[in-house]
Amino acid sequence: MVINRIAVNGYKNLSGVDIFPDSKMNIFCGDNAQGKTNLIEAVWLMTGCRSFRGTRDRDFIGFDSDKAEISVEFSDSERPQKIDFSVTKNAVKDKLIRLNGVKIPLLSRLFGTLKCVVFTPEDLFITKGSPDNRRSFIDLSASQIKHSFVYALSKYNGLLSQRNALIKNISFGSASPEDLDVWDIQLAKTGAYISVIRNTYCNNLNQYTNSLYNKITNGKENMTLYYQSTVFKELDGRTDHEGELTEIYYKKLKESIEDDIRIGYTLCGVHRDDVITCINGLSAREFGSQGQQRSTALIMKIAQARIIKDQTGEAPVMLLDDVLSELDPERQSFILKNIDGMQVFITCCDRHTVKNTSGKIFSVKNGKIGGV
Ligand SMILES: Nc1ncnc2c1ncn2[C@@H]1O[C@H](COP(=O)(O)OP(=O)(O)O)[C@@H](O)[C@H]1O
Ligand SMILES: [Mg+2]
Repeated sequence: MVINRIAVNGYKNLSGVDIFPDSKMNIFCGDNAQGKTNLIEAVWLMTGCRSFRGTRDRDFIGFDSDKAEISVEFSDSERPQKIDFSVTKNAVKDKLIRLNGVKIPLLSRLFGTLKCVVFTPEDLFITKGSPDNRRSFIDLSASQIKHSFVYALSKYNGLLSQRNALIKNISFGSASPEDLDVWDIQLAKTGAYISVIRNTYCNNLNQYTNSLYNKITNGKENMTLYYQSTVFKELDGRTDHEGELTEIYYKKLKESIEDDIRIGYTLCGVHRDDVITCINGLSAREFGSQGQQRSTALIMKIAQARIIKDQTGEAPVMLLDDVLSELDPERQSFILKNIDGMQVFITCCDRHTVKNTSGKIFSVKNGKIGGV
């Protein structure tokens, strides 16, 4: 997948941007607060995902603009495509989105069309951070290769909020525990499905990360990664989410009702699960050095990209926002070597951060982007 043209106007501080990236390597350099991350974010939004830094819709539009416009031309292995997006200050809810000229109601409907992997300095904390970050990583990565997974996740979140609201009502005496059953039946079904998809993804990811980690440590250390379920003891080899797995899940929910009511929310389920990374058999989160934790994070990102390439046949565009300067030269060259063949966008303050590369270099200054 290659982005051939990016035009941005009025998105945050970016104005009059109209660039034709190199099909391989693109480096965007500029001082802090000039608009580098804004550019990466504008491209990322066109993948149909929410902003990786949590920007809300109304903050898309530049302080001095009435309208934010983003347009991206790209080609996948089959054909050239174009996404046009615009939103005006007075009608933030009425976004205008077109894919190849055809109107699309929501940005999220674009999901799966333009495939990108974004890597920011925050991602380097994925191993060390909270389970929430790791679940998000797995959920997004698995959705990138199985788009319908997004709907299962959103259904589960809806059901979980309803169940939690009911639990509160039960503790206030305005509902009874039997009322939970309608939610539990559906939660069990959706939760079992999510567990199977996540577990399958983690097993697949583990094969990639294991071999990449082996390479980065020259065979000195071994990395393993697995999905840790709060519901199931064993998920490997199981795909019967419509059969026994749903029953087990349902029973587990029933067993914890008393505790749930006492605590005030649903204690077990896929919203409490985790992804465990080990180095030489020991938890990288608890025992890993900072360097090991960074390597595991780095490798999970490379693996995410490789899986998209291998399973969808389309190499994603790699968006590396300010991350190379956080890495030592060895890890820098490892990442570049292992995403070879993919189109890359790198942002950095110092253009010498990236060594010996061909491609295009752009300068980012006060929201304007030009060649150097
Ligand atoms: N809605 C907005 N309108 C105009 N400027 C904005 C808006 N939101 C953020 N900015 C500006 O964008 C700049 C930060 O851009 P960013 O892309 O994060 O910089 P960097 O080059 O360091 O990655 C800041 O100067 C900030 O004031
Ligand atoms: Mg930045």
